[in-house]
Amino acid sequence: MGEEPTTSRINYLRLSVTDRCNLRCRYCTYWRDWRKLPSGEILRYEELLRLAAVAGEIGISKVRITGGEPLVRRGLVEFLGKLHHLPGITKVCLTTNGVLLPEQAPALYDTGLRHLNISLDTLRRERYRQITGKDHLPEVLAGLEKAAALGFHPLKINCVVLKGINDDEVLDLAMLARDHPCQVRFIELMPTVSQEWWQRHFLPLTEVVRRLTLLGPLVPSTREATAGPARIFQVPGFQGELGFITPMSGHHCRTCNRLRLTADGKLRPCLLAATELDLKEPLRQGLGNDLLGYLFQEAMELKAGKVKHPLPPSRHSSRSMVSIGG
Ligand code: 5AD
Repeated sequence: MGEEPTTSRINYLRLSVTDRCNLRCRYCTYWRDWRKLPSGEILRYEELLRLAAVAGEIGISKVRITGGEPLVRRGLVEFLGKLHHLPGITKVCLTTNGVLLPEQAPALYDTGLRHLNISLDTLRRERYRQITGKDHLPEVLAGLEKAAALGFHPLKINCVVLKGINDDEVLDLAMLARDHPCQVRFIELMPTVSQEWWQRHFLPLTEVVRRLTLLGPLVPSTREATAGPARIFQVPGFQGELGFITPMSGHHCRTCNRLRLTADGKLRPCLLAATELDLKEPLRQGLGNDLLGYLFQEAMELKAGKVKHPLPPSRHSSRSMVSIGG
């Protein structure tokens, strides 16, 4: 995986604004080995804006803010306000675990942000604590309600399906899409922690789909073209939709249109490949926009398979999910 070149136009950048997180999800990272980045290594907001502006100049139109957990970084609201005004950037999205949404949702909405993804793998409080290490389910549910009431749209809920942990809840989670105009997306577990844990808890989504047919016919959505790696279905009587993301059982390199920028300024052509292009040092050494744009273009060409590893792989070849941002 990660070697097949893309044939899509690369117009989507995921920007990780922090490697810090207020949860400790079991599947995300080897938390015992995790060391936070020194704050000087993390790109400042001006630096992020500069890189996003360059990206906008060379064809990136969609930016998703990720983390860590983006809402733990101070000043995010002001940053988002500025990001919305960059030429070329027509769509700004945010992925959050939702814990801080009850306080922050109104200010986020006021920046113009509408596209919100909330991670939520269970509706049971004790189980939430077991998966995330924290007792924050009430906040997340309140945040979800608030986001829906404010009118964030599209509002998407990401559920990583874990066999033996939350797979008995897929119907309950799907019901969120019956009762709210949101998209509930089931995601296959990726082996970001130990192989053993992955083997124990991986469930192919074919099994989830089979269980969900109890809800009624799953009708493929006609809006699928815009959905990225998710396959979207409608269910009669539902206000929202269901989505399925299968990084394990269905490769989607050819249709992958995204680049990722880590919180410390490394551009990754592929989530699963170790290649990274450092943008932080060139940026801090005063490189102009055209040369920074050239580095973005190089990442795009790497992704399209036109260039084979022109740079030595970075020292940080294996990263945990919390530092890439999913
Ligand atoms: N497998 C699948 N998805 C993951 N995420 C993080 N780690 C994994 C993993 N091992 C995704 C979750 C979360 C988002 C931020 O990253 O869907 O919603």
